[in-house]
Amino acid sequence: MKRPTSPPRGTQDILPATSGVYHKVRDLAYTTLSRAGFQEIQTPIFESTEIFARAAGESSDIVNKEMYTFEDRSKRSITLRPEGTAGVVRAYLSNGLDRQVKPVKLWYWGPMFRYERSQVGRYRQFHQLGLEVFGSGGAYIELEGIKLAWDFVLSLGISEDRLSLEINNVGDMGSRSRYQDIMRQFLVEHRDQICPDCQRRIDTNPLRALDCKVESDQSLYQAHAPQIGDYLTSDCIEHRDTLFELLDRQGISYTYNQSLVRGLDYYTGTVFELKVLGSDLAQQNTICAGGRYDTLVEQFGGPSTKAFGWAFGIERLTSLIEGASSESEKKYFIVNEGQGFTDVYNLTQYIRDMGCIVLLDYDQKPFNKQFDLAQKYKCTDIIYYQKDQLVLRSLQDDSRMTFKQSADLVEYVAREMSHI
Ligand code: HAM
Repeated sequence: MKRPTSPPRGTQDILPATSGVYHKVRDLAYTTLSRAGFQEIQTPIFESTEIFARAAGESSDIVNKEMYTFEDRSKRSITLRPEGTAGVVRAYLSNGLDRQVKPVKLWYWGPMFRYERSQVGRYRQFHQLGLEVFGSGGAYIELEGIKLAWDFVLSLGISEDRLSLEINNVGDMGSRSRYQDIMRQFLVEHRDQICPDCQRRIDTNPLRALDCKVESDQSLYQAHAPQIGDYLTSDCIEHRDTLFELLDRQGISYTYNQSLVRGLDYYTGTVFELKVLGSDLAQQNTICAGGRYDTLVEQFGGPSTKAFGWAFGIERLTSLIEGASSESEKKYFIVNEGQGFTDVYNLTQYIRDMGCIVLLDYDQKPFNKQFDLAQKYKCTDIIYYQKDQLVLRSLQDDSRMTFKQSADLVEYVAREMSHI
Protein backbone atom coordinates (compact mmCIF):
# COMPACT_ATOMS: atom_id res chain seq x y z
CA MET A 1 0.00 0.00 0.00
CA LYS A 2 1.19 3.53 -0.81
CA ARG A 3 1.94 5.81 2.14
CA PRO A 4 -1.39 7.64 2.84
CA THR A 5 -1.22 11.42 2.49
CA SER A 6 -4.51 12.55 3.99
CA PRO A 7 -7.54 11.33 5.97
CA PRO A 8 -10.85 10.81 4.10
CA ARG A 9 -12.27 13.97 2.49
CA GLY A 10 -14.01 16.25 4.99
CA THR A 11 -12.46 14.57 8.03
CA GLN A 12 -9.42 15.50 10.05
CA ASP A 13 -7.02 13.92 12.48
CA ILE A 14 -7.00 15.63 15.85
CA LEU A 15 -3.28 15.73 16.46
CA PRO A 16 -1.53 16.04 19.84
CA ALA A 17 -0.95 19.76 19.22
CA THR A 18 -4.71 20.49 19.21
CA SER A 19 -6.20 17.72 21.30
CA GLY A 20 -5.40 19.77 24.43
CA VAL A 21 -7.78 22.46 23.22
CA TYR A 22 -10.57 19.88 22.79
CA HIS A 23 -9.98 18.75 26.37
CA LYS A 24 -10.03 22.32 27.63
CA VAL A 25 -13.41 22.93 25.94
CA ARG A 26 -14.89 19.64 27.13
CA ASP A 27 -13.65 20.12 30.71
CA LEU A 28 -15.10 23.62 30.81
CA ALA A 29 -18.40 22.31 29.42
CA TYR A 30 -18.51 19.60 32.08
CA THR A 31 -17.93 22.07 34.92
CA THR A 32 -20.23 24.81 33.64
CA LEU A 33 -23.12 22.58 32.62
CA SER A 34 -22.93 20.37 35.74
CA ARG A 35 -23.26 23.48 37.89
CA ALA A 36 -26.38 24.44 35.93
CA GLY A 37 -27.90 21.01 36.69
CA PHE A 38 -27.19 19.31 33.34
CA GLN A 39 -26.22 15.64 33.25
CA GLU A 40 -24.23 14.00 30.50
CA ILE A 41 -25.86 11.55 28.11
CA GLN A 42 -24.06 9.47 25.48
CA THR A 43 -26.09 8.00 22.65
CA PRO A 44 -24.90 5.70 19.83
CA ILE A 45 -23.11 7.17 16.83
CA PHE A 46 -25.63 5.45 14.58
CA GLU A 47 -29.39 5.03 14.84
CA SER A 48 -32.13 3.62 12.70
CA THR A 49 -32.49 5.98 9.67
CA GLU A 50 -36.11 6.69 10.51
CA ILE A 51 -35.05 8.54 13.71
CA PHE A 52 -33.20 11.25 11.79
CA ALA A 53 -35.55 11.32 8.81
CA ARG A 54 -38.52 11.93 11.06
CA ALA A 55 -36.79 14.55 13.24
CA ALA A 56 -34.94 16.66 10.69
CA GLY A 57 -37.82 16.43 8.18
CA GLU A 58 -38.01 14.68 4.83
CA SER A 59 -37.58 17.99 2.98
CA SER A 60 -34.47 19.14 4.89
CA ASP A 61 -31.04 19.25 3.23
CA ILE A 62 -29.74 16.94 5.93
CA VAL A 63 -32.14 14.15 5.01
CA ASN A 64 -32.05 14.76 1.27
CA LYS A 65 -28.38 15.18 0.64
CA GLU A 66 -26.22 14.79 3.70
CA MET A 67 -26.89 11.58 5.57
CA TYR A 68 -24.44 8.70 5.69
CA THR A 69 -26.96 5.91 5.31
CA PHE A 70 -26.26 2.23 4.72
CA GLU A 71 -27.90 -1.14 5.09
CA ASP A 72 -26.41 -3.34 7.77
CA ARG A 73 -26.02 -7.10 7.37
CA SER A 74 -29.59 -7.63 8.56
CA LYS A 75 -30.86 -5.23 5.88
CA ARG A 76 -31.80 -2.54 8.41
CA SER A 77 -31.36 1.05 7.23
CA ILE A 78 -28.80 2.68 9.52
CA THR A 79 -27.59 6.30 9.54
CA LEU A 80 -24.51 7.84 11.14
CA ARG A 81 -25.91 10.64 13.30
CA PRO A 82 -25.91 14.01 11.50
CA GLU A 83 -26.87 15.83 14.73
CA GLY A 84 -27.51 15.05 18.39
CA THR A 85 -31.10 16.07 19.16
CA ALA A 86 -32.93 13.17 17.46
CA GLY A 87 -30.81 10.53 19.23
CA VAL A 88 -31.26 12.24 22.60
CA VAL A 89 -35.05 12.37 22.14
CA ARG A 90 -35.01 8.66 21.20
CA ALA A 91 -32.91 7.87 24.31
CA TYR A 92 -35.14 10.08 26.51
CA LEU A 93 -38.10 7.91 25.53
CA SER A 94 -36.43 4.49 25.27
CA ASN A 95 -35.02 4.84 28.78
CA GLY A 96 -38.13 6.29 30.43
CA LEU A 97 -36.37 9.56 31.28
CA ASP A 98 -39.74 11.21 30.58
CA ARG A 99 -40.86 9.81 33.94
CA GLN A 100 -38.18 11.80 35.81
CA VAL A 101 -38.65 15.12 37.58
CA LYS A 102 -38.93 17.93 35.01
CA PRO A 103 -37.17 19.69 33.56
CA VAL A 104 -34.78 16.93 32.50
CA LYS A 105 -31.51 18.67 31.55
CA LEU A 106 -29.03 16.73 29.43
CA TRP A 107 -25.78 17.53 27.65
CA TYR A 108 -23.68 15.58 25.17
CA TRP A 109 -20.45 15.67 23.22
CA GLY A 110 -19.43 13.62 20.24
CA PRO A 111 -18.79 13.20 16.54
CA MET A 112 -21.52 13.91 13.96
CA PHE A 113 -21.50 13.04 10.25
CA ARG A 114 -22.86 15.01 7.28
CA TYR A 115 -22.01 14.46 3.65
CA GLU A 116 -21.38 18.16 2.93
CA ARG A 117 -19.16 20.03 0.48
CA SER A 118 -16.08 20.27 2.68
CA GLN A 119 -14.44 23.64 3.30
CA VAL A 120 -12.98 25.56 6.24
CA GLY A 121 -15.41 25.13 9.15
CA ARG A 122 -17.59 22.60 7.29
CA TYR A 123 -16.62 18.95 7.63
CA ARG A 124 -18.06 15.52 6.99
CA GLN A 125 -17.09 14.39 10.48
CA PHE A 126 -17.23 17.08 13.15
CA HIS A 127 -17.96 17.30 16.87
CA GLN A 128 -20.84 18.91 18.66
CA LEU A 129 -21.31 19.93 22.27
CA GLY A 130 -25.05 20.10 22.82
CA LEU A 131 -27.67 20.44 25.49
CA GLU A 132 -31.36 19.53 25.54
CA VAL A 133 -33.97 20.44 28.16
CA PHE A 134 -37.27 18.54 28.36
CA GLY A 135 -40.35 19.73 30.23
CA SER A 136 -40.03 23.50 30.41
CA GLY A 137 -41.94 25.74 28.02
CA GLY A 138 -41.24 29.30 29.15
CA ALA A 139 -38.77 31.93 28.06
CA TYR A 140 -36.74 31.52 31.28
CA ILE A 141 -35.19 28.21 30.28
CA GLU A 142 -34.34 29.72 26.90
CA LEU A 143 -32.65 32.62 28.64
CA GLU A 144 -30.61 30.18 30.76
CA GLY A 145 -29.64 28.12 27.68
CA ILE A 146 -28.65 31.14 25.61
CA LYS A 147 -26.76 32.72 28.51
CA LEU A 148 -24.87 29.47 29.15
CA ALA A 149 -23.77 29.44 25.49
CA TRP A 150 -22.87 33.13 25.57
CA ASP A 151 -20.84 32.89 28.81
CA PHE A 152 -19.20 29.67 27.62
CA VAL A 153 -17.77 31.48 24.60
CA LEU A 154 -16.61 34.41 26.73
CA SER A 155 -14.87 32.11 29.21
CA LEU A 156 -12.93 30.58 26.31
CA GLY A 157 -11.42 34.00 25.72
CA ILE A 158 -13.52 35.19 22.77
CA SER A 159 -14.49 38.81 23.33
CA GLU A 160 -18.08 39.97 23.47
CA ASP A 161 -17.67 42.53 20.68
CA ARG A 162 -17.00 39.66 18.23
CA LEU A 163 -20.27 37.88 19.03
CA SER A 164 -23.45 38.26 17.04
CA LEU A 165 -26.63 36.64 18.35
CA GLU A 166 -29.60 36.39 15.99
CA ILE A 167 -33.00 35.33 17.27
CA ASN A 168 -36.33 34.64 15.66
CA ASN A 169 -39.65 33.13 16.67
CA VAL A 170 -40.93 30.80 13.96
CA GLY A 171 -44.29 30.40 15.64
CA ASP A 172 -46.25 27.44 16.95
CA MET A 173 -47.58 24.83 14.53
CA GLY A 174 -50.75 26.88 13.79
CA SER A 175 -49.02 30.18 12.98
CA ARG A 176 -46.29 28.38 11.10
CA SER A 177 -48.64 26.57 8.81
CA ARG A 178 -50.57 29.84 8.14
CA TYR A 179 -47.30 31.56 7.30
CA GLN A 180 -46.20 28.59 5.20
CA ASP A 181 -49.31 29.02 3.00
CA ILE A 182 -48.69 32.76 2.62
CA MET A 183 -45.03 32.16 1.72
CA ARG A 184 -46.00 29.47 -0.78
CA GLN A 185 -48.36 31.90 -2.46
CA PHE A 186 -45.63 34.57 -2.56
CA LEU A 187 -43.15 32.12 -4.14
CA VAL A 188 -45.72 31.03 -6.73
CA GLU A 189 -46.28 34.69 -7.66
CA HIS A 190 -42.52 35.17 -8.13
CA ARG A 191 -41.75 31.76 -9.65
CA ASP A 192 -39.99 33.29 -12.66
CA GLN A 193 -37.60 35.34 -10.51
CA ILE A 194 -36.40 32.66 -8.09
CA CYS A 195 -33.71 29.97 -8.35
CA PRO A 196 -34.57 26.32 -9.20
CA ASP A 197 -33.97 25.28 -5.55
CA CYS A 198 -36.53 27.80 -4.32
CA GLN A 199 -38.94 26.71 -7.07
CA ARG A 200 -38.68 23.20 -5.62
CA ARG A 201 -39.22 24.60 -2.11
CA ILE A 202 -42.68 25.84 -3.15
CA ASP A 203 -43.87 22.25 -2.78
CA THR A 204 -41.44 20.88 -0.20
CA ASN A 205 -40.76 23.64 2.34
CA PRO A 206 -41.49 27.27 1.43
CA LEU A 207 -39.93 28.62 4.65
CA ARG A 208 -36.52 27.31 3.65
CA ALA A 209 -36.50 29.78 0.75
CA LEU A 210 -35.71 32.51 3.31
CA ASP A 211 -32.38 30.78 3.92
CA CYS A 212 -31.48 30.77 0.19
CA LYS A 213 -27.89 31.78 -0.55
CA VAL A 214 -28.61 33.15 -4.06
CA GLU A 215 -28.15 36.93 -3.87
CA SER A 216 -31.01 37.98 -6.16
CA ASP A 217 -33.42 35.67 -4.30
CA GLN A 218 -32.25 37.10 -0.96
CA SER A 219 -32.82 40.70 -2.15
CA LEU A 220 -36.32 39.79 -3.30
CA TYR A 221 -37.20 38.09 -0.01
CA GLN A 222 -35.75 40.84 2.13
CA ALA A 223 -37.62 43.55 0.26
CA HIS A 224 -40.96 41.89 -0.43
CA ALA A 225 -41.50 38.52 1.30
CA PRO A 226 -44.16 38.33 4.01
CA GLN A 227 -42.69 38.31 7.54
CA ILE A 228 -43.37 35.54 10.03
CA GLY A 229 -43.69 38.12 12.82
CA ASP A 230 -46.96 39.29 11.26
CA TYR A 231 -48.50 35.82 11.55
CA LEU A 232 -47.60 34.93 15.15
CA THR A 233 -50.35 34.25 17.70
CA SER A 234 -50.60 36.54 20.72
CA ASP A 235 -49.03 33.78 22.89
CA CYS A 236 -46.00 33.56 20.56
CA ILE A 237 -45.65 37.35 20.55
CA GLU A 238 -45.79 37.46 24.35
CA HIS A 239 -43.21 34.64 24.58
CA ARG A 240 -40.89 36.38 22.08
CA ASP A 241 -41.12 39.72 23.90
CA THR A 242 -40.53 38.13 27.31
CA LEU A 243 -37.34 36.48 26.04
CA PHE A 244 -36.14 39.78 24.55
CA GLU A 245 -36.80 41.56 27.83
CA LEU A 246 -34.92 38.89 29.82
CA LEU A 247 -31.95 39.11 27.45
CA ASP A 248 -31.96 42.92 27.75
CA ARG A 249 -31.88 42.63 31.52
CA GLN A 250 -28.88 40.27 31.31
CA GLY A 251 -27.06 42.71 29.02
CA ILE A 252 -26.93 40.19 26.15
CA SER A 253 -27.19 41.99 22.81
CA TYR A 254 -29.09 40.31 19.96
CA THR A 255 -30.68 41.03 16.61
CA TYR A 256 -34.25 40.04 15.81
CA ASN A 257 -33.91 38.37 12.41
CA GLN A 258 -37.23 37.31 10.91
CA SER A 259 -35.50 35.48 8.05
CA LEU A 260 -33.78 33.06 10.44
CA VAL A 261 -35.53 29.73 9.79
CA ARG A 262 -32.84 27.05 10.43
CA GLY A 263 -32.29 23.90 8.40
CA LEU A 264 -34.07 21.40 10.64
CA ASP A 265 -37.84 21.08 10.50
CA TYR A 266 -38.47 20.33 14.17
CA TYR A 267 -38.28 23.90 15.47
CA THR A 268 -41.27 25.72 16.94
CA GLY A 269 -41.13 29.16 18.56
CA THR A 270 -37.68 30.49 19.50
CA VAL A 271 -34.69 29.78 17.23
CA PHE A 272 -31.26 31.36 17.44
CA GLU A 273 -27.76 31.38 15.97
CA LEU A 274 -24.59 32.63 17.62
CA LYS A 275 -21.88 33.81 15.22
CA VAL A 276 -18.32 34.96 15.72
CA LEU A 277 -17.23 37.89 13.55
CA GLY A 278 -13.74 38.57 12.22
CA SER A 279 -12.41 35.03 11.81
CA ASP A 280 -11.20 32.78 8.97
CA LEU A 281 -14.51 30.89 9.14
CA ALA A 282 -16.19 33.23 6.60
CA GLN A 283 -19.71 31.88 5.89
CA GLN A 284 -19.24 29.06 8.41
CA ASN A 285 -19.08 31.43 11.39
CA THR A 286 -22.15 30.10 13.24
CA ILE A 287 -20.58 28.41 16.24
CA CYS A 288 -23.77 27.57 18.12
CA ALA A 289 -27.39 27.18 17.05
CA GLY A 290 -30.62 25.84 18.42
CA GLY A 291 -34.11 26.56 19.57
CA ARG A 292 -37.38 25.16 20.82
CA TYR A 293 -38.95 21.95 19.48
CA ASP A 294 -42.20 21.42 21.34
CA THR A 295 -43.69 18.73 19.10
CA LEU A 296 -40.76 16.34 18.52
CA VAL A 297 -41.13 14.17 21.63
CA GLU A 298 -44.77 13.55 20.80
CA GLN A 299 -43.89 12.87 17.16
CA PHE A 300 -41.58 10.13 18.50
CA GLY A 301 -44.50 8.53 20.33
CA GLY A 302 -43.90 10.18 23.72
CA PRO A 303 -46.11 12.46 25.82
CA SER A 304 -46.57 16.09 24.76
CA THR A 305 -43.32 17.70 26.03
CA LYS A 306 -41.91 21.19 25.64
CA ALA A 307 -38.24 21.06 24.71
CA PHE A 308 -35.35 23.40 23.98
CA GLY A 309 -31.68 22.93 23.11
CA TRP A 310 -28.61 24.00 21.22
CA ALA A 311 -25.35 22.65 19.83
CA PHE A 312 -21.90 24.10 19.34
CA GLY A 313 -19.70 23.07 16.42
CA ILE A 314 -16.47 22.23 18.22
CA GLU A 315 -14.10 22.48 15.22
CA ARG A 316 -15.37 26.01 14.55
CA LEU A 317 -15.00 26.90 18.23
CA THR A 318 -11.51 25.46 18.72
CA SER A 319 -10.26 27.22 15.58
CA LEU A 320 -10.92 30.48 17.43
CA ILE A 321 -9.20 29.80 20.73
CA GLU A 322 -5.62 29.69 21.91
CA GLY A 323 -3.71 26.52 22.79
CA ALA A 324 -4.45 24.88 26.11
CA SER A 325 -1.00 24.81 27.68
CA SER A 326 -0.92 26.92 30.77
CA GLU A 327 2.21 28.96 31.42
CA SER A 328 2.32 27.90 35.02
CA GLU A 329 2.39 24.20 34.06
CA LYS A 330 5.48 22.37 35.33
CA LYS A 331 7.05 19.75 33.10
CA TYR A 332 9.99 17.77 34.47
CA PHE A 333 12.46 15.51 32.72
CA ILE A 334 14.25 12.95 34.89
CA VAL A 335 17.63 12.01 33.50
CA ASN A 336 18.29 8.32 33.86
CA GLU A 337 21.91 7.34 33.36
CA GLY A 338 21.70 3.82 34.67
CA GLN A 339 20.56 4.42 38.24
CA GLY A 340 18.22 1.65 39.31
CA PHE A 341 15.17 2.11 37.05
CA THR A 342 12.90 1.38 40.01
CA ASP A 343 14.25 4.38 41.99
CA VAL A 344 13.93 6.67 38.97
CA TYR A 345 10.49 5.37 38.18
CA ASN A 346 9.29 5.74 41.78
CA LEU A 347 10.50 9.35 41.78
CA THR A 348 8.66 9.91 38.47
CA GLN A 349 5.48 8.53 39.97
CA TYR A 350 5.68 10.65 43.16
CA ILE A 351 6.02 13.84 41.12
CA ARG A 352 3.29 12.82 38.65
CA ASP A 353 0.97 12.18 41.60
CA MET A 354 1.34 15.85 42.48
CA GLY A 355 -0.21 16.80 39.17
CA CYS A 356 3.00 17.56 37.24
CA ILE A 357 3.99 16.25 33.84
CA VAL A 358 7.10 14.05 34.18
CA LEU A 359 9.02 12.57 31.24
CA LEU A 360 12.06 10.33 31.32
CA ASP A 361 14.46 8.49 29.05
CA TYR A 362 14.03 4.74 28.71
CA ASP A 363 17.20 3.94 26.78
CA GLN A 364 19.90 5.36 29.03
CA LYS A 365 21.23 7.76 26.41
CA PRO A 366 24.25 9.90 27.30
CA PHE A 367 23.52 12.88 29.58
CA ASN A 368 23.81 15.46 26.77
CA LYS A 369 21.34 13.62 24.56
CA GLN A 370 18.82 13.45 27.42
CA PHE A 371 19.40 17.14 28.16
CA ASP A 372 18.66 17.97 24.48
CA LEU A 373 15.58 15.79 24.61
CA ALA A 374 14.27 17.67 27.66
CA GLN A 375 14.68 20.95 25.79
CA LYS A 376 12.96 19.60 22.69
CA TYR A 377 10.02 18.46 24.84
CA LYS A 378 9.91 22.03 26.22
CA CYS A 379 10.35 20.83 29.81
CA THR A 380 10.59 23.50 32.49
CA ASP A 381 13.13 21.60 34.65
CA ILE A 382 15.38 18.57 34.58
CA ILE A 383 16.26 16.35 37.48
CA TYR A 384 19.50 14.33 37.51
CA TYR A 385 21.72 12.39 39.85
CA GLN A 386 25.14 13.85 40.71
CA LYS A 387 27.27 11.73 43.01
CA ASP A 388 24.87 10.88 45.84
CA GLN A 389 22.68 13.91 45.38
CA LEU A 390 19.78 14.92 43.21
CA VAL A 391 19.95 18.16 41.24
CA LEU A 392 16.86 20.10 40.16
CA ARG A 393 17.90 22.40 37.33
CA SER A 394 15.63 24.97 35.75
CA LEU A 395 15.69 25.02 31.98
CA GLN A 396 14.22 28.50 32.08
CA ASP A 397 16.84 30.40 34.15
CA ASP A 398 19.45 27.62 34.68
CA SER A 399 19.21 27.92 38.51
CA ARG A 400 20.05 24.71 40.40
CA MET A 401 19.13 23.20 43.73
CA THR A 402 20.55 20.04 45.27
CA PHE A 403 18.79 17.54 47.50
CA LYS A 404 20.29 14.78 49.59
CA GLN A 405 17.30 12.48 49.24
CA SER A 406 14.54 12.08 46.75
CA ALA A 407 11.98 12.63 49.55
CA ASP A 408 13.39 16.17 50.04
CA LEU A 409 13.05 16.90 46.35
CA VAL A 410 9.49 15.60 46.31
CA GLU A 411 8.64 17.75 49.32
CA TYR A 412 10.11 20.80 47.58
CA VAL A 413 8.08 20.15 44.41
CA ALA A 414 4.94 19.75 46.52
CA ARG A 415 5.57 23.15 48.15
CA GLU A 416 6.12 24.74 44.73
CA MET A 417 2.91 23.20 43.39
CA SER A 418 0.89 24.61 46.28
CA HIS A 419 1.97 28.12 45.17
CA ILE A 420 0.89 27.67 41.53
P1 HAM B 1 -27.12 22.71 13.47
O1 HAM B 1 -27.29 24.17 13.23
O2 HAM B 1 -27.36 21.82 12.34
O3 HAM B 1 -28.07 22.36 14.68
O4 HAM B 1 -25.67 22.44 14.03
C1 HAM B 1 -25.21 23.09 15.19
C2 HAM B 1 -23.78 23.59 14.98
O5 HAM B 1 -22.95 22.50 14.57
C3 HAM B 1 -23.63 24.61 13.85
O6 HAM B 1 -23.94 25.91 14.30
C4 HAM B 1 -22.16 24.47 13.53
O7 HAM B 1 -21.38 25.20 14.45
C5 HAM B 1 -21.91 22.98 13.74
N1 HAM B 1 -21.92 22.27 12.44
C6 HAM B 1 -22.99 21.87 11.72
N2 HAM B 1 -22.61 21.25 10.59
C7 HAM B 1 -21.25 21.26 10.60
C8 HAM B 1 -20.24 20.77 9.71
N3 HAM B 1 -20.55 20.12 8.59
N4 HAM B 1 -18.94 20.97 10.03
C9 HAM B 1 -18.61 21.61 11.17
N5 HAM B 1 -19.51 22.09 12.05
C10 HAM B 1 -20.81 21.92 11.77
C11 HAM B 1 -28.16 21.10 15.18
O8 HAM B 1 -27.42 20.19 14.92
C12 HAM B 1 -29.25 20.99 16.25
N6 HAM B 1 -29.30 19.57 16.69
C13 HAM B 1 -29.00 21.91 17.40
C14 HAM B 1 -30.05 21.80 18.46
C15 HAM B 1 -29.96 21.13 19.62
N7 HAM B 1 -31.28 22.29 18.38
C16 HAM B 1 -31.95 21.94 19.47
N8 HAM B 1 -31.14 21.22 20.23
